[in-house]
Amino acid sequence: MNDAFAMPESVLVLGGGSDIARATLRQLLARNTRTVVLAGRDSASLDGAAAEAASLGATNAITIPFDATGVESHLRFAEEAFTRAGEIDLVLVTAGILGDQESDERDPKAAANVMATNFTGLASALLAIAGRLQAQGHGLMVVLSSVAAERARKSNFIYGASKAGLDAFAQGLGDALLDSGVKTLVVRPGFVRTKMTSHMSPAPLAVSADDVASAILRGIETGKEIIWVPPTMRLIMAALRHLPRSLFRRMPI
Ligand SMILES: NC(=O)c1ccc[n+]([C@@H]2O[C@H](COP(=O)([O-])OP(=O)(O)OC[C@H]3O[C@@H](n4cnc5c(N)ncnc54)[C@H](OP(=O)(O)O)[C@@H]3O)[C@@H](O)[C@H]2O)c1
Repeated sequence: MNDAFAMPESVLVLGGGSDIARATLRQLLARNTRTVVLAGRDSASLDGAAAEAASLGATNAITIPFDATGVESHLRFAEEAFTRAGEIDLVLVTAGILGDQESDERDPKAAANVMATNFTGLASALLAIAGRLQAQGHGLMVVLSSVAAERARKSNFIYGASKAGLDAFAQGLGDALLDSGVKTLVVRPGFVRTKMTSHMSPAPLAVSADDVASAILRGIETGKEIIWVPPTMRLIMAALRHLPRSLFRRMPI
């Protein structure tokens, strides 16, 4: 059950080894969280995250194999997660890949894998989980989108399109679940210094995984449905979104 500040007692993470997930869990464990279900592909990183959660006060730290692209397993996965955890108050969706735009443009299968991971696979998993949350009558799904979802840039349009799909899906799902007790929170970070971006030079206004985690906790507490990290990205992306396409496509971004 959530506490009086909407902080969850039980959390399921899709992409349990993610740096943003681990930073968010650290902050949640310092509040009300005691049951943590870590789902992902790499058992070693899930075990590391589970050990950290236990050391920070989790009384129940469970790991479950999960592949976003394995859509045929998602109903079974949701059943296992909810059976093993009992109730789940919060679902944190941090699974995702950046891809390599330059090479993926010449490799349709790799580009399709970015879509299958970031968009269609997670859409399938979200539906499987939403059914369970509806049955228990409450729950929040926190979905990691990106500023890249707001307008696809030529240098990043494969990832951007995948996040645009996920972002729209999460908003639509939240609207469809209105009055069910189940909600969605869409998180749109700019550049975050994590292992996903460790090969890149930080972009202007880069933030840390801890910054994103703090923003997520604030968003949960204040009942937000969409948040930008840092908040200034909202204005920057609004300006970019409304630039005439003839100008936008010539920008070196
Ligand atoms: N870092 C940024 O600048 C940034 C900015 C905006 C949004 N985001 C989004 O924030 C989320 C978390 O990113 P992060 O920065 O924390 O990166 P990260 O540390 O690389 O985490 C991404 C996680 O996704 C998991 N994953 C990848 N493919 C998967 C699949 N098919 N099934 C299940 N899990 C899979 C990875 O696990 P394995 O590969 O070990 O399985 C990894 O744990 C992502 O959705 C990302 O797109 C990041």
